[in-house]
Amino acid sequence: MIKKKLLINGVWTETQNYSPLHSPYSGELIAEIPVASEDDIEHAIAAAYVARPIMANMPAHQRSAILDNLAKLLEDRADEAARILALEVAKPITTAMMEVSRTIETYKFAAEEAKRIHGETLPLDASKSGEGRLAYTMREPIGVVGAIAPFNFPMNLVAHKVGPAIASGNTIVLKPASQSPLSSFFIAELLLEAGLPAGALNVVTGSGRVIGDRIVTDKRISMITFTGSPAVGIGIRNKAGLKRVTLELGSNSALIVDKGVQIDEIIARSVVGAFSFQGQVCISLQRVYAHEDVYDEFVEKFIQETNKLKMGDPLDPATNVSAVISPNDVERILSWVEEARQTGAVVAAGGHAEGNIVYPTVILHADPSLKISCQEVFGPIVMINKVKSVDEAIEYVNDSRFGLQAGIYTENVRTALHAAEKLHVGGVMINDIPSFRVDHMPYGGVKESGMGREGIKYAVEEMTELKLVVWKK
Ligand code: SIN
Repeated sequence: MIKKKLLINGVWTETQNYSPLHSPYSGELIAEIPVASEDDIEHAIAAAYVARPIMANMPAHQRSAILDNLAKLLEDRADEAARILALEVAKPITTAMMEVSRTIETYKFAAEEAKRIHGETLPLDASKSGEGRLAYTMREPIGVVGAIAPFNFPMNLVAHKVGPAIASGNTIVLKPASQSPLSSFFIAELLLEAGLPAGALNVVTGSGRVIGDRIVTDKRISMITFTGSPAVGIGIRNKAGLKRVTLELGSNSALIVDKGVQIDEIIARSVVGAFSFQGQVCISLQRVYAHEDVYDEFVEKFIQETNKLKMGDPLDPATNVSAVISPNDVERILSWVEEARQTGAVVAAGGHAEGNIVYPTVILHADPSLKISCQEVFGPIVMINKVKSVDEAIEYVNDSRFGLQAGIYTENVRTALHAAEKLHVGGVMINDIPSFRVDHMPYGGVKESGMGREGIKYAVEEMTELKLVVWKK
């Protein structure tokens, strides 16, 4: 049994209380996780606060080198990292390997970005009163970043917080999700080995509410970066006062399939978008609006492909779909499917569970008011509805509390441009599913999908203060 420790001020620290961490797939006990006390949290915040000048004064090439070292160390231990993901969150091992590869790339992007954080010169003489002055801007680290991470990408979404924070000379107090602390401890260990100074990263685990409240309200922390549910995100925003806040919240992401599209070419990709990591992805494909000319073909082929998926042990390389994160989630997801069934929607595949594995589920003709349509399912469920036109589909896509990413497959350039303009989301994927992401692109949403953007360059902007310098000649 592995008994983990908190990372506070560069020291692996024991605490009073521990809680068991079980595999969502097998129920096996995989670790004892420290439950940080109020004192532990205080020490972590104090350490991050005291370490600020060390990181702020560290030259860019050194910050970059630490991140590069981390990427190399992670490359060497990629198999171990993927196994941690499979154990703690039941991510199928091939998908887990992809997450590890992305994480390595995210830290490499952060290493590069550390070297190009720059300002601009300003022509102040554009105003008569600005004549005879030279002005430029520079970006300064914001200070201590409080990072609250989700369970669904325990390595890469932590990298999206820790990477840019280090790149821009900040210190961090990291609270991983309660189901996925092992990945954060693993990365923290590598970061110390990579040369990160004591106090620059502190990892605290335990009660989400206690740690979260403290991080959000403590005056020494200048910024909160949070990925998780809208309810928690809105709570953070309300409590954070004048702190900078970036929120990556959920979505019920949609895909539009126009007439004239070669359905065979888009099916495999669409099925991956809907069921990868059991649909527990903020940009998972949850809603499909297919043109009536291609609807029947799309549905038939989508179900055929779905039925090829293999359910099982996340450590088995043949597994495509494993357990969802908790029994409560299994119950919630199935109750949403039942609600759909009772209102006359057709459950054309799946719709049941074995243990914590919810079978990939395809629902047809779902009413927009159903939970599987208008809430974020965060499970392996997709609904496919028929539309008469792309405009009708755009209306359905936009009729949502959320707006993270959307996709459209179309052969028509004008339709693509029209959709890009009209879809009210943070990112539009033309001729791809909404689930597309590479880690240097701006990523974030509108409406209840959040505020601010991740993607290293954009996160660095969020994690720095813009300072203006004006010289009178
Ligand atoms: C998320 O679930 O927000 C992240 C999706 C991704 O990085 O692919």
